[in-house]
Amino acid sequence: MHFNILYFINILKIDKVGTLFAKLSITIIQYGTQHMIFHQFFEPESSTYTYLLASEQTREAVLIDPVISEVEQYAAFLEQHSLQLVYSLDTHVHADHITAANTLRTRFGCKTILHRNSGVGCGDIFITDGAAIRVGELQIEARYTPGHTNACTSYVVDGMVFTGDALLIDGCGRTDFQEGNPATLYDSIHLQIFSLPDDTLVYPGHDYKGRVSSTVGQEKRNNSRLGQGRTKAEFITLMQNLNLPYPKQIDVALPANQVCGK
Ligand SMILES: [Fe+2]
Repeated sequence: MHFNILYFINILKIDKVGTLFAKLSITIIQYGTQHMIFHQFFEPESSTYTYLLASEQTREAVLIDPVISEVEQYAAFLEQHSLQLVYSLDTHVHADHITAANTLRTRFGCKTILHRNSGVGCGDIFITDGAAIRVGELQIEARYTPGHTNACTSYVVDGMVFTGDALLIDGCGRTDFQEGNPATLYDSIHLQIFSLPDDTLVYPGHDYKGRVSSTVGQEKRNNSRLGQGRTKAEFITLMQNLNLPYPKQIDVALPANQVCGK
């Protein structure tokens, strides 16, 4: 592990493998010689996780996958901890909720970051694989992980990876709409996420069972779609036979997210 978690407030439970079950707590993580503020928000309608990362020193903050209905929560947190929102990142163009990107940009003057393959023109900064995003002394590495959509990007901060809908806990994003492609997703997860150290904490874009994090090693072992060395051919067959229902928010969320949630 590359970082030390210094303290949590409101810890509910720590399980045997060290997965942390903290409910809307503020977490301070040692980052080099500095400290990083970390917070995980949950939007229950679409079971979306939003992550706030901030420099304790400069008070600059970034939100990953903010949801439009939760803006007041974000604003209260930023104010309570004297933080300045400088970026909002979307891991991809979501089909199940509307991004808060435009609302946050208008309210806080932050920049909206998307992958250049998103096909969306409303971003302020368009990134490619390997881009580095600096927030105070924090350095966030973008790793291009397409397959669920064409724009999917995972973000790595020392010892943590925010996987959006590419890799979920004991699952992965569906590949049967937008630009989904199971072979591409398999390669993305293996090359860009499973190549990280096994103790890297995995923070997904959603969880539907109340789990808040996992590790790369845990997913390599136990993920029911990708674990135990499942082959690409097996994964493709599995993904092509999921027969999932049509996403209920897609007809509202996709057009809204193509204009950053305006
Ligand atoms: Fe998605």
